[in-house]
Amino acid sequence: RTRILTGITTTGTPHLGNYVGAIRPAIAASRDAGTDAFFFLADYHALIKCDDPARILRSRLEIAATWLAAGLDPERVTFYRQSDIPEIPELCWLLTCVTAKGLMNRAHAYKAAVDQNVADGEEPDAGVTLGLFSYPVLMAADILMFNAGKVPVGRDQIQHIEMARDIAQRFSHLYGRGRELFVLPEALIEESVATLPGLDGRKMSKSYNNTIPLFEGGRKALRDAIGRVVTDSRLPGEPKDAEGSHLFILYQAFATAGEAAAFRAALEGGMGWGDAKQALFERIDRDLAPLRERYETLIARPDDIEDILLAGAAKARAIAAPFIAELRAAVGLSRLR
Ligand code: TYM
Repeated sequence: RTRILTGITTTGTPHLGNYVGAIRPAIAASRDAGTDAFFFLADYHALIKCDDPARILRSRLEIAATWLAAGLDPERVTFYRQSDIPEIPELCWLLTCVTAKGLMNRAHAYKAAVDQNVADGEEPDAGVTLGLFSYPVLMAADILMFNAGKVPVGRDQIQHIEMARDIAQRFSHLYGRGRELFVLPEALIEESVATLPGLDGRKMSKSYNNTIPLFEGGRKALRDAIGRVVTDSRLPGEPKDAEGSHLFILYQAFATAGEAAAFRAALEGGMGWGDAKQALFERIDRDLAPLRERYETLIARPDDIEDILLAGAAKARAIAAPFIAELRAAVGLSRLR
């Protein structure tokens, strides 16, 4: 059987990029017979970027309710919080001890922080914690703990999955006595939506403050955010460049090929940006409205969500505990009797 696994960092409210890049393809893949799915809330990862406990608590609830509203079936999928699985940070340490610092020096998130510091005339490592620096090792532990073969993610996570492979191979080289101790993971990328643009055309991202919220704030927040998508200044009646417009890319992420072709033709035929935004809103809302209704019910029942997550953690630990015992033995940390 193939194992798929993915997580979302619990630092904010889920946005359309998380949905089309990770949640929607992950749930579709979880429905394949022959697949075992592991979806989790990356709440240890959240501590790297966020020191506001209330925000992390709220984000965990929102992201859990989002997965469930989007159709995750907790009977089929192992659905858990990273911080409920102590074997993950334990594996993280075993992996940390075999990971070259030079590998981490190349991580995009770390390099971006350094580049920003240099551009600002600061010390290169100003404000960089060891958590940020070694973030890819924790992510490798998430993936390798469950021997996931496929990891559904957006394009921004590819490097992390390659690093997880490198780290796994290094560990097996040292301790595997000639065999691989881990399944080597591969990214599963939905090419058409691998990088969904945000309001300003850059990648939609919490850190750029350019997101369109998936459910929070309801229909009105969705409508308002779509109203703020940046367009060029062509007037109604003037032909628009559909390919070059991120409004069109957003539309394509939700529409069928036929609907997208009609939208493109309308833009090229002079549809005004105001009407285009209204059409985009209606198309997205058609998909999201039933999910939003479930989301609103779920988010009002944190006790039920807690039960689901605790049951998921028990399933996950039943796999993680024997595996970490094997790995401890492999490195020389087994008991004397
Ligand atoms: P995070 O929380 O930044 O994003 C969660 C998922 O959403 C995808 N995504 C996007 N996809 C397309 N277009 C966008 N604009 C967009 N923005 C976000 C991300 O690619 C990701 O798939 N480190 C991870 C969380 C993580 C993880 C893991 C993922 C921790 N451990 C193990 C997979 C496996 C992160 O911060 O994602």
